[in-house]
Amino acid sequence: MDDKQLRQKYLKSLSEVKAGVDLEKLKTTVLGKKGEIAALLGKMRDLAEEERKEFGKKVNLLKSELEIAFSEKALQIEKAEIEKQLACEKIDLDLSGIKPELAYTHPMSIVLKEIEDLFISMGYTVVEGDEVELDLYNFERANIPQNHPARDMQDTFYIDVERLLRTHTTAVQTRVLEAEANDLPIKVICPGKTYRRDDDDATHSHQFFQVEGLVVDHNISLGDLKGTLELLAKRMFGNDRVIRFRPSYFQFTEPSAEVDVSCFNCNGKGCNICKGTGWIEILGCGMVHPAVLEMAGIDSKKYSGFAFGAGIERITILKYGIDDIRNFYQNDYRFLKQFGRFE
Ligand code: DAH
Repeated sequence: MDDKQLRQKYLKSLSEVKAGVDLEKLKTTVLGKKGEIAALLGKMRDLAEEERKEFGKKVNLLKSELEIAFSEKALQIEKAEIEKQLACEKIDLDLSGIKPELAYTHPMSIVLKEIEDLFISMGYTVVEGDEVELDLYNFERANIPQNHPARDMQDTFYIDVERLLRTHTTAVQTRVLEAEANDLPIKVICPGKTYRRDDDDATHSHQFFQVEGLVVDHNISLGDLKGTLELLAKRMFGNDRVIRFRPSYFQFTEPSAEVDVSCFNCNGKGCNICKGTGWIEILGCGMVHPAVLEMAGIDSKKYSGFAFGAGIERITILKYGIDDIRNFYQNDYRFLKQFGRFE
């Protein structure tokens, strides 16, 4: 064996290798357990005693030289590969960035802000109560005693016997009446989330949003209520709108009414939005029941009041022609981006 020739041969092959995988292959062929160097060492057995020593020395020297050469080559290849990768990962700082899209305003927030702006401009304050409420303020003080059938209309999420998720913002009304009983007059609107047990579908949601209005003073009349709600209807649905009162029943008001607005789509002629009637129901209202005033500690002979409660989803659905109430709670960006945003 000519170890010089062998060395040259291997070093030449090694110098031609460019990629890590090829290096591994060559290493196995030359230095692997069943490689060429191992085969050479295996031949030692057939040699005469005196040759064996010399032969073994040469092959082992060649082996360790090659091992060093292979590790150096491995380092070289690794370095080249890292440099290549760094070159393609270079960040071009001159490239202009992607502008993040700003969030949009939820359509119900737009409607609610319009309502709040209107009432604040008329001297009302905005009061928010708690979503977890006592049965006392949600029902009892609203003149809906225990076991009264009117409770069935507001299927309730009870937390325990005393506490519940409020079923209407009338709970805030009864709290304000009590808190302000000695500090009249009262002029508030109370927006907030409300809950009722319901199976969600296109027109029902177990979670919804109401706004309550409440005014208590000397000589508050049904005329005041009607004038106020007419302004609300015009602000929501356009200046040409008129409203009508339909007699209704609520435990906490007497008399009670449901308010319809003339259809903004057909101007009262009758279309599919108003179901051919020319009118669209928008809210419930009435004169605060004397019993409700008295329970809060207000003298119903000296004071009177009006109240109303509107569903924000319903107004928003009508205003924007939305066909499924679930859209409000799914946070689908494609839905939300249609309505603009506050400046
Ligand atoms: N609380 C009623 C409901 O959730 C709405 C309502 C009707 C509120 C008449 C009022 C009112 O303040 O006077 O169905």
